[in-house]
Amino acid sequence: MLSEQMIRIIKSTVPVLEVHGTAITKRFYQMLFTNHPELLNVFNHANQKQGKQPTALANAVYAAAANIDQLENILPAVKQIAHKHRSLGITAEQYPIVGQNLLAAIKDVLGDAATDEIIQAWSEAYGVIAQVFIDVEAEMYQAAELAEGGWAGFRPFTVARKVKESEVITSFYLVPQDGKAISAFLPGQYVTVKVNIAGEEYTHLRQYSLSDKPGQSFYRISVKREEGDEHKPGGKVSQYLHNSINEGDVLELTAPAGDFTLDVEDERPVVLISGGVGLTPMVSMLNTLVEQTPERKVYFIHAARNSQVHAMKQAITELAKQHSQASVHWCYSEPSSEDRMQQSYNKEGFITAEWLKEIVPDQSAAYYFCGPVPFMKQINQALQSLGVPQNDIHYEFFGPKGSLEAE
Ligand code: HEM
Repeated sequence: MLSEQMIRIIKSTVPVLEVHGTAITKRFYQMLFTNHPELLNVFNHANQKQGKQPTALANAVYAAAANIDQLENILPAVKQIAHKHRSLGITAEQYPIVGQNLLAAIKDVLGDAATDEIIQAWSEAYGVIAQVFIDVEAEMYQAAELAEGGWAGFRPFTVARKVKESEVITSFYLVPQDGKAISAFLPGQYVTVKVNIAGEEYTHLRQYSLSDKPGQSFYRISVKREEGDEHKPGGKVSQYLHNSINEGDVLELTAPAGDFTLDVEDERPVVLISGGVGLTPMVSMLNTLVEQTPERKVYFIHAARNSQVHAMKQAITELAKQHSQASVHWCYSEPSSEDRMQQSYNKEGFITAEWLKEIVPDQSAAYYFCGPVPFMKQINQALQSLGVPQNDIHYEFFGPKGSLEAE
């Protein structure tokens, strides 16, 4: 239990952290990796370089600190992060390491302003916050291991099939090397994949949504090859998977995780909206819906640049054709001349509120969406302008969770 005085100090220093938060977490990561280079095996180096992870951690720390006397308020956020931590294999023993380096970074950045009293208060607060995460994650580790077909840590899977879905997206069908059962998952969940790239000092971990329905003898992930441009480097892991991982090769996976999941009990119409490779969790949801609740109305809306980069178009179209309650709608931002000739899409440009209103006449529907951040901001705004209640809007970020509010 934190004393009243400690709580007061923490709350009064939150604004200071807000000013220096990102500087502190940047410094923290420098110190962390200098003191514990082995942690470079678990952190995503690309996110570090782009500064996304420092900001995500900073935001989580502000939120926790501002709610230090009522941490139950941030439990939903804790759970979402804990899913990611559990999927990465983060351990209780790593929390004090993070705590020590965070406090050292606070001291370093704040200088004399970080009095002994302030440091003491933050040290205690970190302990309390860390314990909440450790407890939530302990339950998740137990559940993942005890589930039928479940397991702890990384389990080797063989690539049974590698299927090109578009110019940029390839699916990998993964079966467990031990030939035993694999755990069920909820559509929308992801797995962490571990790769050792020849010549690289550290292992790389990445999360990929499961793109097929649960209850099969394999998991499927569908990976976009990230080419990179002058603004961002190419995706090391996605290129490795595309170029160097073939049928028969082995990838290590942790058990499925994530809280962006389809509510299968809800009987109302459901609208699945995706942009680019954001279609992967949506395809899992669509496959599950048509199999488990074929009477439920489902709208599958997908935005791509054009048909060349449009993955799984045929499979999705055929699936929808067999189900009277499922409809598909394609939106191309840059249709090719062939696309125009064949009229292979329903709308040119971007997904707008007007178009959504036109294709989804239902007053009460649940919305799920995933895609690049600018796309998600646009969809979120469109849904808000249509008056869709916040409770019916569900979305997933690929990469560290951010904000969809207009800046
Ligand atoms: C991801 C917060 C402790 C390792 C994250 C994210 C947040 C966060 C907000 C981003 C979640 C997302 O991607 O949606 C925290 C807080 C902690 C804590 C508040 C302490 C109370 C730890 C510890 C470790 C760790 C002890 C292990 C050394 C990671 C890793 C990621 C992550 C590897 C994935 C991000 C990446 O690789 O870019 N954490 N974390 N975290 N966390 Fe933590």
